Amino acid sequence: MSGGLFENTTIGFIGAGAMGTAMIAGLLNKNIIKADYIIAADPHEEKGEKLVQDYGIRFTTENIEAAREADVLVFAVKPQILHRVMNPLRGKVDHASLIISIVASAKMRTLVGELLNSRVVRAMPNTPAQIGQGMTVWCATDEVEDRQRRQAASLLGALGEQLYVDDERLLDMATALSGSGPAYVFLFIEAMIDAGVRMGFTYRDASKLVMQTLRGASEFAQVSGLHPAQLRNQVTSPGGTTAAGLYELEKLHFRTAIAEGIWAAYQRAVELGEEDE
Ligand SMILES: NC(=O)c1ccc[n+]([C@@H]2O[C@H](COP(=O)([O-])OP(=O)(O)OC[C@H]3O[C@@H](n4cnc5c(N)ncnc54)[C@H](OP(=O)(O)O)[C@@H]3O)[C@@H](O)[C@H]2O)c1
Repeated sequence: MSGGLFENTTIGFIGAGAMGTAMIAGLLNKNIIKADYIIAADPHEEKGEKLVQDYGIRFTTENIEAAREADVLVFAVKPQILHRVMNPLRGKVDHASLIISIVASAKMRTLVGELLNSRVVRAMPNTPAQIGQGMTVWCATDEVEDRQRRQAASLLGALGEQLYVDDERLLDMATALSGSGPAYVFLFIEAMIDAGVRMGFTYRDASKLVMQTLRGASEFAQVSGLHPAQLRNQVTSPGGTTAAGLYELEKLHFRTAIAEGIWAAYQRAVELGEEDE
């Protein structure tokens, strides 16, 4: 257990789908909290049975039950049903409890207004969280106490890496960069594999080459601490193959295509946030 940070703390989950389950698994695998102190609510009995069997946590089909018990209540439902889910819980969650929402584009102001609870953390994780390799960016209302901030960091850290930001607008930017980020990388992976197949590799071999290249390059960039341009220069010899490849990519606006794609995602995140109000 993490130095009593979660002593006598019950964590409730509203929604036990992909992300809720990933968080539960991360918390237990990292020994952050004991299974008895987790209660998940979801409409599906069979999901509950599996959670109880796999993790030994408690389960209910009644959101209000988890909400009443929780000292930390995590909202992990789809954005389109959030309002419907929050409505019956309005004023029912202890005012001292911490609310954590991972629901895309739901603003802190909306959560505070609908639940009548001022201690709110809004977080944006990404899909690799499902294997404990996520990147989660989060912010908190001023009312969230110091211990609750440390609890939020620990909980969100169970999904992989976490980063606190003190300006909610950075969450829209994070949505575009790290939230949607895996999709850009998956597209890049797909395109590289296709290029390998075009040259004559089997899909399986091309896949192996591409995955390991991405993993290796990403870890190398992190470990070396060098600017990516320096690393790129290291593999680019004059008149060589990499120079020829990079020249074509730049000519076809590879860099600007990425920048414009991320900018469009950011604009969309801002728009969706405005619709939420
Ligand atoms: N997946 C990601 O990588 C990712 C990344 C960033 C942010 N997020 C955010 O995380 C949230 C959850 O995503 P997810 O991928 O975990 O979705 P999910 O797998 O669909 O999980 C949501 C769960 O909530 C259940 N649910 C439906 N109605 C409910 C209700 N009235 N009360 C309680 N639970 C209810 C769903 O059941 P049904 O299956 O019947 O609908 C499902 O089991 C989303 O808001 C999303 O924006 C996800």
